[in-house]
Amino acid sequence: MELVGDFGLVEVQSSNSEMKILKKMELVKVKANPKANRPIDVKDEVLEAEKRIRSYIRETPLEFSPSLSKEGGCLVYLKLENLQHTGSFKVRGAFNKILSIPKQKEVVTASSGNHGLAVAYALHTLGGTGTIYLPTTTAQVKIEKLKDFNVNIENFGSDCVETEVFARNTVDHSDEKEFISPYNDPQIIGGQGTIAVELQQQLSEIDVVFVAVGGGGLISGIAGYLKEYNPDIEIVACLPENSAVMYHSIKAGKILEMDSKSTLSDGTAGGIEPGAITFELCQRLVDHFILVTEEEIKNAMIYVIENHHMIVEGAAGVAVASFLKEKKWYKDKNVVLVICGGNIGFDRLKELICNPDNR
Ligand SMILES: Cc1ncc(COP(=O)(O)O)c(C=O)c1O
Repeated sequence: MELVGDFGLVEVQSSNSEMKILKKMELVKVKANPKANRPIDVKDEVLEAEKRIRSYIRETPLEFSPSLSKEGGCLVYLKLENLQHTGSFKVRGAFNKILSIPKQKEVVTASSGNHGLAVAYALHTLGGTGTIYLPTTTAQVKIEKLKDFNVNIENFGSDCVETEVFARNTVDHSDEKEFISPYNDPQIIGGQGTIAVELQQQLSEIDVVFVAVGGGGLISGIAGYLKEYNPDIEIVACLPENSAVMYHSIKAGKILEMDSKSTLSDGTAGGIEPGAITFELCQRLVDHFILVTEEEIKNAMIYVIENHHMIVEGAAGVAVASFLKEKKWYKDKNVVLVICGGNIGFDRLKELICNPDNR
């Protein structure tokens, strides 16, 4: 895969093969090559996951959006993973991973967000045991939510990376414990990819799928599966400008260590661990990257409340904002926006709805 064009003047090949020049830096066309070297077979992982987890997860609705369709002159559908158990797609990967490892093993992970909640829920449902490491800064309300699921809670470190490194080290060389990464794992990717199995059944023709990207597990699972059946399906990676580590890494040709700024899309914020298998998958499978500002994410979240009467979290807002920003390229297409989660803190929601400037 290579980036085409320069920043500020980026060539984009539309699906009817005519070349267009975009004077924008946000939409970057990359040459996806689904047939290039494969470190893991995503389609196989997804099909295995589908058999393992189907009875534990919800088939989420694919809802037609009249308003977004009108905005873009196309047909837009929302894949409502905010209605998934625990309020995000993360349970798909969590169930798949936990069901893949020997039952007697103790699960260890580090996440105060959707992944931690999903692992706790899956463990509780399956009757397993596990420990979730949280940064000492984690809000009490999140800790209480996790305690509902009867998992061990441990605190270490003041930021997520420090906590994750520590949690991983507790598992090193242990036969009794297994660390579950939020994205850097074939079974996690396979689990997230079961969204694509449902999409295939729900919509006969898919042209474009917009997916928010953090570590890249969600987009790798969806893209790896769909492109296996139809390599022409466009996969659009959507990221907040304030934390776009995968985008900058792909541009640099290697995983970068870089700081992120605060973003409404807390679900996708943060770095990518060295050697992550999602890096190569994103290099191979992503067709476009779109970066959005905090203002655009906020407006998209308000748009969904107004037009769909649904509260979605910032990461889902990133996918909607990306579509709204670049909708002109998707006329007459069948477009899917993955509404990846609905978990938003009450204070953030209050600020979004009650701030008179937010209209
Ligand atoms: C709601 C939500 N959307 C998107 C993502 C990004 O997923 P990935 O890290 O697999 O790219 C996350 C990650 O936690 C998330 O919680």
